[in-house]
Amino acid sequence: MMLGGARNQLVGVDIGSHAIKVVELAETRRGRVLRSIGMAVLPDGAVEEGVIRQSSPVVELLRGLFAKLKIRNRNVATSLSGYSVMVKKITVRKSEGLPLEELIGEEAEQYIPFDVHQVNLDFDTLEGSGRAIGAGVIGAAEAELLDVMLVAAKKRIVEDRVQVLEQAGLNPAVLDVDAFAMQNAFEISSGRKNGCYALVNLGARELCINIVEDGIPIFNSDSSSAGSEVTREIVLHFGVDLGEGERIKLGHRLLRDKEKLDGILQGVVENWTGEIIRALDFAGNAHPGVDVEGIYVCGGSCRLPGFQPFLEKKTGLKVVEIDPFKSLAFDEKRIDPVYLSSVGRQAVVAVGLALRAIGDK
Ligand SMILES: Nc1ncnc2c1ncn2[C@@H]1O[C@H](COP(=O)(O)OP(=O)(O)OP(=O)(O)O)[C@@H](O)[C@H]1O
Ligand SMILES: [Mg+2]
Repeated sequence: MMLGGARNQLVGVDIGSHAIKVVELAETRRGRVLRSIGMAVLPDGAVEEGVIRQSSPVVELLRGLFAKLKIRNRNVATSLSGYSVMVKKITVRKSEGLPLEELIGEEAEQYIPFDVHQVNLDFDTLEGSGRAIGAGVIGAAEAELLDVMLVAAKKRIVEDRVQVLEQAGLNPAVLDVDAFAMQNAFEISSGRKNGCYALVNLGARELCINIVEDGIPIFNSDSSSAGSEVTREIVLHFGVDLGEGERIKLGHRLLRDKEKLDGILQGVVENWTGEIIRALDFAGNAHPGVDVEGIYVCGGSCRLPGFQPFLEKKTGLKVVEIDPFKSLAFDEKRIDPVYLSSVGRQAVVAVGLALRAIGDK
């Protein structure tokens, strides 16, 4: 979703519920280079499912990250996700004389669950989707069906996001959607655009699924069951505070009652897997013949113990973690490879956002 016409290099800024991630890439003669990467953990409740509840910690952490990483470029690409944005593929019939914007604006009203006057609308026509119908009756050119990816974001949320970035001294030039940023990062990391696969981002507050066929998203869903749910359950069952709950979840504190913890983890892993299977079934029903080859996962919570093997077992599909840095060169004097491998899965969306500046996608 373009808010401005910036053509320059952009810095990717992913404001998640748990952490802010910042990535800067450069296009050089040697190919794409990772220039800077940083992450800062937010106080609990400052950002919830993409909505900024407390702006000052977000502004401070953003300023701190840009200063620490010595990023001079202030033009950024950021993204929305979850309930703050609606993504839907619709099919419109092109009509002569009516600009696509107007046509889609009219069509969109029936799909948008919010008041249409309170949303920012954007769309993208899907490559190769133009289908001529009714040739000879009304003429192919006049009656072409076009698949369009419709994106609607609540104005308030967009304005809040822009304001926070501006307060941090940044210029938001592109507003994207987590699911698409993840897809862009996956495409450069895997070097492939063809085939059918499911992309899953498991963060702190969101489980985002994007099923893609030959580069085109065919099914998207967002649910609010993710990593912080596990922490909450631990807090509830063990009577500890949030910090301690997080340490227990990450295995940094060992427990006597390991069985209870295993029970909590298993329950959540089953929920997440159920959600992904529902998405796969839905995509399969809506697009007969679709053959998902594998599931590519990212987000901090994709390493919850037991999740990946369970998902693999229940779906029969291979489950692979996305490494967003795979095709990127970097200077080992500036960036520690050990740090890189520890943050990779959490930086996928930010890498996808930083790419928006390079290609013309
Ligand atoms: N090794 C691990 N095992 C389990 N959970 C982990 C691990 N490492 C990080 N997490 C969890 O990952 C979550 C943070 O992931 P991420 O940075 O992708 O979320 P986010 O982008 O901030 O949130 P969201 O996208 O949901 O708004 C936290 O809940 C954290 O506890
Ligand atoms: Mg996230």
